[in-house]
Amino acid sequence: MAILVLGGAGYIGSHTVYELIDAGREVVIADNLETGYREAVHPAAAFYEGDIRDRAFIDSVFEKESIDGVIHFAANSLVGESMTNPLKYYDNNLCGTKVLLESMVAHHIDKIVFSSTAATYGEPERVPILETDHTDPTNCYGETKLSMEKMFKWTSQAHGLRFVSLRYFNACGAHVSGKIGEAHNPETHLIPLILQVPNGQREYISIFGDDYDTKDGTCIRDYIHVTDLAQAHILAMDYLLEGGENNIFNLGNGVGFTVKQVIDAARAVTGHSIPEKMAPRRAGDPAQLIASSDKAKNILGWKPVHADLKHIIETAWNWHKNHPQGFTEER
Ligand code: UFG
Repeated sequence: MAILVLGGAGYIGSHTVYELIDAGREVVIADNLETGYREAVHPAAAFYEGDIRDRAFIDSVFEKESIDGVIHFAANSLVGESMTNPLKYYDNNLCGTKVLLESMVAHHIDKIVFSSTAATYGEPERVPILETDHTDPTNCYGETKLSMEKMFKWTSQAHGLRFVSLRYFNACGAHVSGKIGEAHNPETHLIPLILQVPNGQREYISIFGDDYDTKDGTCIRDYIHVTDLAQAHILAMDYLLEGGENNIFNLGNGVGFTVKQVIDAARAVTGHSIPEKMAPRRAGDPAQLIASSDKAKNILGWKPVHADLKHIIETAWNWHKNHPQGFTEER
């Protein structure tokens, strides 16, 4: 019996596949390679290229393979793009998940772990954020993820399917082997953009706003290593396989770092001066996002092991300096 990883050629998906295979699990990947990379597909996994919006495609995977449960990463995830092209997000994230759920129900596959996000909360009322806190997304990406959570809830009530939603905070870092890492095009995330400076691809890093109500005026985020996120998916799938009920978990380290602190840590890791320039605030950025992950620790037994910020940046640097263009030259 295998675990089907949708979006297993993407950043967090590929790291989860590596951990599943290390744990001796059988893995089937489906990915349309729109933002994922064939080179990120683990050689020990079965791979199907196709789109979850294509009912015939997803049906055929369930018919050919013996699937125990699904881990669902297949979605668009750029906050800025979701604001300029919201219907793309409704189409891929919501319509894709609808087709997937129809196919799962038809094939009696009743367990799913899926990628949600801190963006479901919007501007938090307090930090650390609890799963029970108010959800009011400030961008369309977060809105579609929150709607996906609700789609799972109602489908669960009607058809008995069980789900775990994992709300990631700031995913970062790369596999310690250096074989896979973060490769987005366009890149919008802070750590890979900072590392483009010592890699000779960018002259300076822009800091989006230094007038926030934080200790140095820059935004605070909870940076969580991608391999720690990957482990949480395995624990969540095991929880469902053991009969666990529907649940939602935050995944973060519970510690916040400012943008300036992250740049300083990258200077220490790379030995490069990494010039910085002040820039205006980026629309929709909350001042602080810090997770309470006590629930994941207590119920799933999750324990982040790559929590140290410099270590996280070291793993990212090891990847980016050896793969300055990511997986491929062109995209
Ligand atoms: N930042 C800069 N300069 C840059 C890039 C980012 O100062 O060149 C700042 C941002 O303003 C933000 C922080 O660095 O304060 C982190 O930005 P990222 O883009 O790396 O990450 P976000 O916090 O915006 O996004 C993350 C996830 C999203 C999720 C969001 C929830 O990547 O998927 O948290 O708000 F939706």
